[in-house]
Amino acid sequence: MDKVIVTGGCGYIGAHTIVDLISKDYYVISIDDNSKSDPKILEGIQQITGKKVKNYQVDLKDKKALFEVLNKHKDAMGIIHFAAYKSVPESVEKPLKYYSNNLIGLTNLLEGVSKFEIPNFVFSSSCSVYGNVEKLPVSEDTPMGVAESPYARTKQMGEDILRDYVKSFDGTNNKAVNVVLLRYFNPVGAHPSGIIGEIPLGVPNNLTPFITQTAIGIREKVTVFGNDYATRDGSGLRDYIHVMDIADAHTKALQYLKEKPLTQNPEVFNLGTGNGVTVLEMIKAFEKVSGKSLNYVIGPRRPGDIEAIYADNQKAIKELGWKIQYNIDDMMEAAWKWEQKFRRG
Ligand code: UD1
Repeated sequence: MDKVIVTGGCGYIGAHTIVDLISKDYYVISIDDNSKSDPKILEGIQQITGKKVKNYQVDLKDKKALFEVLNKHKDAMGIIHFAAYKSVPESVEKPLKYYSNNLIGLTNLLEGVSKFEIPNFVFSSSCSVYGNVEKLPVSEDTPMGVAESPYARTKQMGEDILRDYVKSFDGTNNKAVNVVLLRYFNPVGAHPSGIIGEIPLGVPNNLTPFITQTAIGIREKVTVFGNDYATRDGSGLRDYIHVMDIADAHTKALQYLKEKPLTQNPEVFNLGTGNGVTVLEMIKAFEKVSGKSLNYVIGPRRPGDIEAIYADNQKAIKELGWKIQYNIDDMMEAAWKWEQKFRRG
């Protein structure tokens, strides 16, 4: 049984990926300091999979503690690195917090990867590395643009660090590491059981949790940030993708790394459905699957937002053998099921 180390295993995408990994017979351990996550999610993972996952509550900036864990698990075939801060507005207010956490965490982890010779590495990147693009859809060949936030810049820098890191292996002085960079578009939804999902911390920034929290009565209304964009209905357009499809792509990325010859260039994959959906269409999809009418108003544009982005996902489909299983209705249904189950405790 292959062992995988997941950093950020108590977070939203990390936890769903662990469920997918276990269902495909991986043995998983998690490293998560729980600064932005709730370890209770591990109970949900156990309920779904029947397996207890060990989490080491370690901050990746604490190199000594991190290395102790890596030393214990140096037989792992790979690391999937999710642990990072991800709030765009918070990153604008507290850029140093983002640079320090997201980049020192990464470099410490890579030092550990070299020291303990862990052969495969998957990095959580984001479509925000593209910035505002002229031509849609964006493919992996679309150059990185100007980052719209410090959060996005930590993802660009994280990718660059990994590219330099991989290039530094000359085949003689050290063992090479195989790296894949996964650029997520907008992950939404929850495990179809409704047992795990995104555990909200305070007021959500993202659209889907804002919709479900409004429908359940925690928020008064959803504000649609702008209806004067050059899109079908004027509201912002994104490529929403079910978190279980994202999870599945990670498991496939590990398999790909195992089979792939080493190169000095990390492969990049876009993880999106290839379909752009507007904010107003998301609201309609929610109303359809929940049977509830949502209280929403049109407000001004949100600073830092881009107008429209969606993925060219052909590379992930062809090279990872990835198949998208879920559509927008499935995403909304899962998000709503999770919200209701979570509030019932
Ligand atoms: C951004 C990043 C993404 C990152 C994610 C993490 C970009 C292009 N994308 O996603 O890489 O992983 O944050 O949080 O920077 N909206 C409303 N009302 C709301 C909330 C959102 O109208 O209350 C709209 C937004 O204006 C946007 C869409 O819904 O058009 C999606 O917003 P959100 O869910 O916050 O994600 P992004 O900002 O696209």
